Amino acid sequence: MKKIQQLITEKPLIAWGLFLSTVVVVFFIGLFGASIVERRSEAIQRFQLVTPIAEWEPRNEVWGENFNRQFESYIKTLDTTFASKYGGSAMVDMLQREPNLVVLWAGYAFSRDYNQGRGHYYAIKDIRNTLRTDVPQPATCWTCKSTDVPRLMNEMGVSDFYKKSWNELGDEVVNAIGCHDCHDPKTMNLRITRPALIEAFERQGKDITKSSHQDMRSLVCAQCHVEYYFKGKEEKYLTLPWDDGISVDEMEKYYDEVEHVDFVHTLSKTPVIKAQHPDWEMAQFGIHAQRGVACADCHMPYKSEGGVKFTDHHIQSPLNNISRSCQVCHRESEETLLNNVYERQDKVKELLLLAEHSIVKAHLEAKAAWDKGAKEEEMKNILTNIRHAQWRWDYVAASHGGSFHAPLESARILATSIRKAEEARVELSKLLTYLGVQTPIAMPDLSTKEKAQKFIGLEMDKLKSKKQTFLSTVPSEWDKKAKERQSTMNN
Ligand code: HEC
Ligand code: HEC
Ligand code: HEC
Ligand code: HEC
Repeated sequence: MKKIQQLITEKPLIAWGLFLSTVVVVFFIGLFGASIVERRSEAIQRFQLVTPIAEWEPRNEVWGENFNRQFESYIKTLDTTFASKYGGSAMVDMLQREPNLVVLWAGYAFSRDYNQGRGHYYAIKDIRNTLRTDVPQPATCWTCKSTDVPRLMNEMGVSDFYKKSWNELGDEVVNAIGCHDCHDPKTMNLRITRPALIEAFERQGKDITKSSHQDMRSLVCAQCHVEYYFKGKEEKYLTLPWDDGISVDEMEKYYDEVEHVDFVHTLSKTPVIKAQHPDWEMAQFGIHAQRGVACADCHMPYKSEGGVKFTDHHIQSPLNNISRSCQVCHRESEETLLNNVYERQDKVKELLLLAEHSIVKAHLEAKAAWDKGAKEEEMKNILTNIRHAQWRWDYVAASHGGSFHAPLESARILATSIRKAEEARVELSKLLTYLGVQTPIAMPDLSTKEKAQKFIGLEMDKLKSKKQTFLSTVPSEWDKKAKERQSTMNN
């Protein structure tokens, strides 16, 4: 006290200065506090504005009544006009674009039909339409398509959900990917609704609920954009193969240990692992994830409308929106940034095609060897190499955006894929000579999807007309039933 009195009498100006700055600081702290409270109540008010959202509400429209901006932007995932060099939301028949894929997947439903992914709003429609769902599929296939999934898992239990058939739940799963998948209806906080991701974290001793807010902005996507398999012939339990780690090599080791086989290749008899879409895992090996940039930073940038800042829920290729997706962090022109993306994608594509050609040849040569009476023993090592080569090629091919998210890792994986395919081919070449087959063997004409499908023995006309019959009757029944059920849902 004495010191302060001394200060006031000896240096009154400094004392006044100190006093005033304290007042200013206190004033701003108060203002800041008030604004937080105000925002909170604004947010809470928004929840109470129109309709309360039921705990398991799957309908995006009902959530949309409260959150108009987010809903309106979400609906834009219906737009299919944008196509970039390798991505975008337009419908692209991948088998037409690359008939080699048909041969690589001979013996698996992907050889019938495979289109490039489009917006989330199409998830239900596209899975109904694809020729792949003519093969009996488990309900597990619905897991990454719909907001009805968390509701059903809650009603029937997770393992019983997976055990049903895809058809059985057709009238229950009708609302496309949406609000309920990523948000808690009470707080609107981001949350994880898919058990497979929570369980994969648990098995690694990690608690996903302790994730940082920034990590959650990627983990909501990792509910679906990851590698997975169906564990157990009966159980079909959705499982992420991450117990040894999330690199391609570690997952390969895991799959080998549990002897997982998605299908046996009809030409080469290789026990193949079909890569799904390890988008999140691949991204972890790229500079953006390593610098803490989240999926949502590029795919769900902020947007302003009438002075209100909100998250753009039109999840799509960021190349349709470089100014908001990239230029918040980068100063370069749109053209430069676009070229940066294309340069990486072009180079990875070059390697991808090399791998593809080597593996297709390996399958055909293996078939030639079997046809001439090759023995299991002689083929074992060859088939292991083809299995690993194809897994690695597919890992990159199916990791959408991976050639930009993690270009170096993509290139490394493809280099090992090519090496393994060529190792198989060196051995095959010796074996074929030994069996008296002239090499190189004659290659079939694989210049179009139709020719490739005929070559592997698919009767496409039959498959298509069967699908047509299904589409003209079943889905409308499913939708009708679902409407009736939903009309009695209270919210
Ligand atoms: C630094 C920005 C950035 C981040 C972060 C990012 N992406 Fe991407 N993503 C892109 C770009 C650029 C493309 C290429 C789009 C194209 O080719 O049209 C892409 C492509 C994709 C695609 C394919 C889309 C299409 O239209 O073909 C998917 C799916 C995807 N990303 C998911 C993710 C997921 C999941 C994460 C988080 C693990 C993520 N992305 C993180 C920039 C990003
Ligand atoms: C794929 C996951 C995902 C889906 C589906 C989704 N959101 Fe979001 N949402 C996010 C992310 C990520 C954020 C940013 C949250 C953050 O950083 O705190 C967000 C933010 C929000 C916010 C907070 C305000 C804002 O704009 O940042 C609201 C409200 C919201 N979403 C409503 C909805 C509604 C309504 C739907 C359905 C039409 C929906 N969301 C669907 C991931 C999703
Ligand atoms: C509930 C599962 C699920 C969640 C959660 C999810 N996705 Fe998807 N995503 C899908 C499916 C399925 C498709 C393909 C839909 C189709 O083709 O019908 C897809 C398609 C996409 C596409 C391609 C769309 C286009 O127009 O090019 C992008 C990009 C994408 N997702 C990014 C993300 C990002 C980023 C997140 C997290 C913020 C996310 N997704 C969360 C399942 C999901
Ligand atoms: C939230 C910030 C952020 C966003 C959004 C973002 N970036 Fe980046 N980007 C970074 C950071 C950080 C690095 C690493 C550079 C460093 O640490 O010096 C980086 C690096 C890069 C690199 C160099 C990577 C390499 O291979 O060496 C390219 C190219 C790039 N970004 C392009 C893009 C494009 C295209 C988009 C939009 C689709 C985008 N970025 C969005 C932050 C961002």
